[in-house]
Amino acid sequence: MKVLLGITGSVASTVAPKLVQALQAAGHEVQVVATKSSLYFFEEGDLGSVKLWKDSHEWPLDTYTRGQPIPHIDLGKWADVLLIAPLSANTLGKLANGLCDNLLTCVFRAWDLRKPAIFAPAMNTYMWRSPITRIQLDRFNAMTSIGFALKVIDPVVKTLACGDTGIGAMADIDTIVKAVG
Ligand SMILES: Cc1cc2nc3c(=O)[nH]c(=O)nc-3n(C[C@H](O)[C@H](O)[C@H](O)COP(=O)(O)O)c2cc1C
Repeated sequence: MKVLLGITGSVASTVAPKLVQALQAAGHEVQVVATKSSLYFFEEGDLGSVKLWKDSHEWPLDTYTRGQPIPHIDLGKWADVLLIAPLSANTLGKLANGLCDNLLTCVFRAWDLRKPAIFAPAMNTYMWRSPITRIQLDRFNAMTSIGFALKVIDPVVKTLACGDTGIGAMADIDTIVKAVG
């Protein structure tokens, strides 16, 4: 499958190169869309030869020129599945509310309802347990009930980067790759 991998600003983004490799080893073609914050957590060169899309590709010039590519539409047409791993609390909130102020959130806002979108949240335990998170995940359930093929891969219990042990760590790579199919 053609997997569009969205990466957001969680410390779990440090495993992005391994996730890309695992998806490729499973036979998938991969392109990556990274939020600005996610780029803090991995070296671009470590992604190998996959195409890495950033916000600067969406707004490349000072002024729009008719006919220039519009990546959030083109990438949505290219992909068979959108996988966002890790999904930060911030991007979760944006997706659940239809906000689209960067390339990744625009891809989701324009996503073809017939194609699956899979999310692997990763955040601190307090964030995951917050009622805000519950309300936002309920919105995904509501979207599923009207035809969106959304799937959330629950986070797991681990000792997190902040030193706390608890729920919130991104699911392991094997689980995520299996969910893609
Ligand atoms: C060291 C560090 C680790 C972070 N880890 C997480 C995390 O695991 N999950 C999360 O939701 N936010 C985390 N954040 C906060 C996000 O990076 C921040 O909310 C950012 O705005 C997310 O932007 P994005 O959703 O556009 O990628 C972390 C921030 C820092 C500085």
